[in-house]
Amino acid sequence: MQLTTFVLVCLQVLAASARAGEIEVLHWWTSGGEARAAQSLKASMQAKGHTWKDFAVAGSGGDSAITVLKSRVVSGNAPAAAQIKGPSLQAWASEGVLTSINDVAKAEHWDALLPKVVSEQMKYKGDYIAVPVNVHRVNWLWLNPAVFARTGAKPPSNWDEFFDAAETLKEAGVIAVAHGGQSWQDLTLFETVALGVGGAEFYRKALVQLDPAELGGVTMEKVLGTFKRIKPYTDRGAPGRDWNLATAMVIKGEAGMQFMGDWAKGEFLAAGSLPGKGFICTPAPGTAKAFIYVVDSFAMFKLKNPANQAAQKDLASAVMSPEFQQVFNLNKGSIPVRMGMKMDKFDDCAKASALDFTAAAKSAALLPSVANGMAVSSAVEGAIKEAVSQFWNSDKMTPAEAMKRIVGAAKTRP
Ligand code: BGC
Repeated sequence: MQLTTFVLVCLQVLAASARAGEIEVLHWWTSGGEARAAQSLKASMQAKGHTWKDFAVAGSGGDSAITVLKSRVVSGNAPAAAQIKGPSLQAWASEGVLTSINDVAKAEHWDALLPKVVSEQMKYKGDYIAVPVNVHRVNWLWLNPAVFARTGAKPPSNWDEFFDAAETLKEAGVIAVAHGGQSWQDLTLFETVALGVGGAEFYRKALVQLDPAELGGVTMEKVLGTFKRIKPYTDRGAPGRDWNLATAMVIKGEAGMQFMGDWAKGEFLAAGSLPGKGFICTPAPGTAKAFIYVVDSFAMFKLKNPANQAAQKDLASAVMSPEFQQVFNLNKGSIPVRMGMKMDKFDDCAKASALDFTAAAKSAALLPSVANGMAVSSAVEGAIKEAVSQFWNSDKMTPAEAMKRIVGAAKTRP
């Protein structure tokens, strides 16, 4: 190395370490695929000279993480960033605990790089208070093709075909549907069935606008019937099971199918299972033209230390960079939220997801996930989750009783 180059490198290192801060990030990405994705974030921050402090809280689709976060914020000890999404972003911002990252967003033209439905959710009173990471699609059905071939079951595209396939798998002694009986997973399955049976307009009116007539109407009755018809195809071990353990059952060929968002794809890939070979992704029955979305995002908390504030801005900028959007989403199973990204490194599931996202946005079939924090307040979400889960787990509750409870749950005040 020439002397001038050496001096330059030294100066760069010094400059970086002068503003090096600590970045603590709360998340619940602890399963195989999720951890690989989180690792890419850590690596990109360390490359900028910052110290990464991992604040991972496993479990229950993030419910435990949010509980821990609340107590940290109340005691005046907030992390730099936390995995918060949907309407909860506004709720946290209105508490006055989040900070504006407008300077980064303006300098990097986020308004032009993000779909409007996303950028609006990242802002509070016009200021960006969060950075989006990805777009997950919820309404997927994951299949093990070897199990289908072995048993003669046919991949389904509508509900009749689905129940035919489930019956064939069951008769062959295979668990037809791998399910994790936790309330957020029950609701994740339920919203997919609601879309598949009732269609996009019904989903929006019932589950997003919480219209009591739809929540207690004939279509909802049909949805509840189809939802409950799936239960006999799950196994006795389902109650309490984590979603990634259900995915592992499909990976190992113990089960034929799983309904789950495409974070499940991250698990297949982390286990070395290849798309089209080890697993197949197909839109859940009746939902091919629609898209239930989850956008993961990091809310930025107010910090006192200037070096940590600088690190927080670097995090926001890194998350939106094309390099990070690619590597993170390849591991996570989702697609980039940044528009105009090349998709050539992504598999067919992701390519289909990207096309369907755009098409669904044009046909009013782009719908926020209720079960995964995107559609309603966390209080309403929690109450609906409980009502749906009680119906799933009860042998006696009628659809009429379930509808009464769901209509009541939708009226929950935050
Ligand atoms: C999140 C995903 C996460 C999944 C399972 C979803 O609500 O949006 O990022 O992988 O839960 O933990």
